[in-house]
Amino acid sequence: MDPTPPLIQAALAAAANAPGYPLTHGTPPLREAVAHWFARRRGVPDLDPDGVLPTIGSKELVAWLPTLLGLGAGDVVVHPEVAYPTYDVGARLAGATPLPADGTLQVGPSTGRVRLVWVNSPGNPTGKVLGVGHLRKMVGWARSIGAVLVSDECYAELGWDGVRVPSLLDPEVCGGSHEGLLVVYSTSKQSNLAGYRAAFAAGDPVLVRRLLEVRKHAGMIVPWPIQEALRVALGDDEHVAEQRARYAVRREIVAAALVRAGFEIDHSEAGLYLWATLREPCWDTVARFADRGVLVAPGEFYGAAGARHVRVALTATDERIGRLADRLADLPE
Ligand SMILES: Cc1ncc(COP(=O)(O)O)c(C=O)c1O
Repeated sequence: MDPTPPLIQAALAAAANAPGYPLTHGTPPLREAVAHWFARRRGVPDLDPDGVLPTIGSKELVAWLPTLLGLGAGDVVVHPEVAYPTYDVGARLAGATPLPADGTLQVGPSTGRVRLVWVNSPGNPTGKVLGVGHLRKMVGWARSIGAVLVSDECYAELGWDGVRVPSLLDPEVCGGSHEGLLVVYSTSKQSNLAGYRAAFAAGDPVLVRRLLEVRKHAGMIVPWPIQEALRVALGDDEHVAEQRARYAVRREIVAAALVRAGFEIDHSEAGLYLWATLREPCWDTVARFADRGVLVAPGEFYGAAGARHVRVALTATDERIGRLADRLADLPE
């Protein structure tokens, strides 16, 4: 993991005097900064700052969103088939039913009332990017059944090989209305801020108001020094470009080592992971890596459809990444 950029550390230090309670909705300058960031970086020119909500990292929002929206028994939460596990956890915390499904066809009338649909683009663990057409279809479907559609886009700045990573809130995707839509975003990856818990949700101001009502009273408040650090981080594109360049180099090295060792790499067009397979059960591949001192995640951990893949992270140090090719030299024996 690389260090938190000095500019952001300085913003945190400058905001160290914080005797009062912070605004749960976030300071107006922070919400403006998020709206400007969407306009500058995500092709969303019309985000209403009232539709912005800072969150204590994005994981807590993923885990608690079904509960905050009042979902419960009999309600269904749809999430990607191969997915970050917290979508499933969140449905269960609310007493709702998680349903792994990538397409609308898998969701029949007998599955219960679908009230929340998650998409994750670029995806963890697969690195798959959903295009404008796919997202537009999801918007139409969610609106037709009255479900809230949420897109977790925390790897959006890490698209590779020129891939376009459209936001759910892009007018081309949502037709210019954010009604019923939210984007979840985190600076953990692009700004090396995982330890700050600095993230936000954005989209429909009506939904944000509903979340705010509960969060205010439940103490789910982002500390003001972190709001300041987040505001400054979102205003600076340079450190993100630098971090992205570091990952690009690591990605080339790891991908070449994997291909040389006989792996196929699927999707992985964006994000911090390579989704790789030796066409064998994932635990056998995990063991091969472990024997060589390398930790990878078993695909099965993200859903049954991942049972023959492993997720190889690009977050190791340059030195460890540099040694990877040597370590894999005798694979797949
Ligand atoms: C898809 C996805 N969503 C959300 C998160 C949570 O990020 P954070 O809680 O650090 O903002 C992660 C972290 O790995 C992730 O991969």
